[in-house]
Amino acid sequence: MLRFPFMDKDFALLKISNTQIKELILPIVIPFIALMVQYHFWIGFKPFVWFLFYPIVFFMAWLGGLRGAIISSVLSAVIVWWFFMPPVFSLYKESFSAYFSTITFIALGYIFGVAMEQLIKANQKVAEQLEANRQKEQLVIQQSKMAAMGEMIGAIAHQWRQPLSIIGGSLINIEESYDENELTKEYLKKQIDSAEKNLLFMSKTIDDFRNFFSPSKSKTDFSVYNNLLNSISIMNAQMESHQISITYDVKDSNANTKTTENEEILDNHFMTNGFSNEFSQVLVNLFANAKDAIEENIQRGMLSKGEGAILITLFNEKNNVVIIVKDNGGGISEKIIDRIFEPYFTTKEQGKGTGIGLYMSKMIIEENMNGKLEVFNDSNGAFLKITLAKAEVKDEGK
Ligand SMILES: Nc1ncnc2c1ncn2[C@@H]1O[C@H](COP(=O)(O)OP(=O)(O)OP(=O)(O)O)[C@@H](O)[C@H]1O
Ligand SMILES: [Mg+2]
Repeated sequence: MLRFPFMDKDFALLKISNTQIKELILPIVIPFIALMVQYHFWIGFKPFVWFLFYPIVFFMAWLGGLRGAIISSVLSAVIVWWFFMPPVFSLYKESFSAYFSTITFIALGYIFGVAMEQLIKANQKVAEQLEANRQKEQLVIQQSKMAAMGEMIGAIAHQWRQPLSIIGGSLINIEESYDENELTKEYLKKQIDSAEKNLLFMSKTIDDFRNFFSPSKSKTDFSVYNNLLNSISIMNAQMESHQISITYDVKDSNANTKTTENEEILDNHFMTNGFSNEFSQVLVNLFANAKDAIEENIQRGMLSKGEGAILITLFNEKNNVVIIVKDNGGGISEKIIDRIFEPYFTTKEQGKGTGIGLYMSKMIIEENMNGKLEVFNDSNGAFLKITLAKAEVKDEGK
């Protein structure tokens, strides 16, 4: 294709922005179009002189704000003055009403302009605010993913500690028995078997955790009981290393007595509908908070090491599945208890907490799963209560 060196420059000169069209070009062009249209009518049945010009000024104010309104109203006033008001084509007019209506027209144009300008600005502000909110939400989601990942890495590290040290021990054993000429094939096989078993466990941990922390694709019926067991097993190694006991108590819906015998019945009584993995993350968040509170309580000297305890109770209440996570970490001060679900609200030092754990948990339970997440204090700690609607199971009661 032929290209001339000046072409780009010329085209650039012709580049007109959207705002220029709305605020300058249209307000100049449209009154002339109105002039042509009105001139055509004028010959036949002489309409009101401002017939087309009022709507135009209003329209231009809506489109181009104050600038559009002023340009189009002044130009329209000049056009009407010159072409339509008797005597036409003259600067002077015979009646006082010509002066009055022209001034009124320009004044109204100005008022339209100011009003529309404010409306446009308000709209822009709303749009900006919405965008800012969206970005903030995105950031919170991003950070909560990072937090979940941190949680996962922490949990893997704890799960791996023991098998790693067992494998290390095996290697030392092998070396020592070789040095002492006691290395039999049998002994070697025993050590290798043990190492393999532990390696298998380690690799399974990674798979479990990967499944656990990947986002659920859709809402499904799942067993809160099952989910609770999984979440506890994820946190178990970590709790053990902090010498915190984590126990659960299940109350069967019918007899209101403790049963842990028939897993299937337990599953059926504690089915709910929602996002299973996200729900597990909520539990992990609550366990992590309880653990932090217990640690702080120990540091304050209110609790001795080894006394920390998290108790989870699972039961039915009307048509709901209820799960309560209780700890003996000293509870939440009344001064802040109203704020703990706010994003970024944390009492922990930097690096230890971001303050989005409970915010995300509340979003997951209340927004995504239509449940309820509440917080209370009792004598020696906090308890968090999750209420979810029970999902009907076909063979229930059998
Ligand atoms: N079980 C609890 N006992 C005492 N205080 C708690 C408990 N759970 C939450 N809190 C208080 O609520 C605050 C907010 O908790 P949240 O889980 O939202 O954030 P965080 O734990 O500080 O940080 P993150 O969860 O992002 O790592 C905590 O900083 C803590 O002060
Ligand atoms: Mg937390």
